[in-house]
Amino acid sequence: MKINIYNNKQEIGNAVASVIAGKVLTKTNCILGLATGSTPIPTYNSLIELYKNGVVDFSGVRTFNLDEYYGIGSMHEQSYYKFMYDNLFSKINIDLKNTKIPSSQPKNLEQECIDYDESIEKAGGIDLQILGIGHNGHIAFNEPSDVFTYGTHIVDLTEDTIQANKRFFNSIDEVPKKAITMGIGTILKAREIIIIATGKDKANAIKAMLSKNIDPKCPASILNAHTNVTVFLDKEAASLI
Ligand code: F6R
Repeated sequence: MKINIYNNKQEIGNAVASVIAGKVLTKTNCILGLATGSTPIPTYNSLIELYKNGVVDFSGVRTFNLDEYYGIGSMHEQSYYKFMYDNLFSKINIDLKNTKIPSSQPKNLEQECIDYDESIEKAGGIDLQILGIGHNGHIAFNEPSDVFTYGTHIVDLTEDTIQANKRFFNSIDEVPKKAITMGIGTILKAREIIIIATGKDKANAIKAMLSKNIDPKCPASILNAHTNVTVFLDKEAASLI
């Protein structure tokens, strides 16, 4: 894995946005894999600026998001659908029909997971996947476990993740306990992966990921098996490596 260390979140956002813009400019009908959470917000802000300045055109771009809370409904204030609309899609010229996020309330859960992986395949596969990392080493919502799960699936969120996400809800009781997430196999099929981590609270997870010990107890460690991963860190997230 290549490792790039920056002074702060904004520098990372500008750098990752430049990589994304480069991909969009050079790959016709580029397919992006996108993440939610606090980490990619500076990247999305920088992409919006690049769009406004006429540098990048999203009209031919398709996107697939990593995950969605199960059961809350896509119009919920904290749904990842709403997050993507508010923080990126409503501010660039992407066709909403070309943006896909797992359904929060699928009629048939098993079929939704199968269809999600199939729609990525049919689109031609993800050219560039953006990831954040959880304190417990999760990527998307692949939580620490005894095994890696290959395809898109439903997952029980761990206590650590529920605690980390409660900052977005009125109370811990409102935080969804389940999510639909791309699996490890879905993520690894991306042709290129960028993983971003900022802040001291991510330093342990980054250390575990980079230990080269591939272990489902640190899901991000599987990225050592991919040949085109770049890690974007601020100094704090890099402080233990
Ligand atoms: C979000 C996602 C999660 C987050 C991770 C870090 O789509 O898949 O894995 O990337 O929980 O979240 P933040 O960025 O809020 O620290």
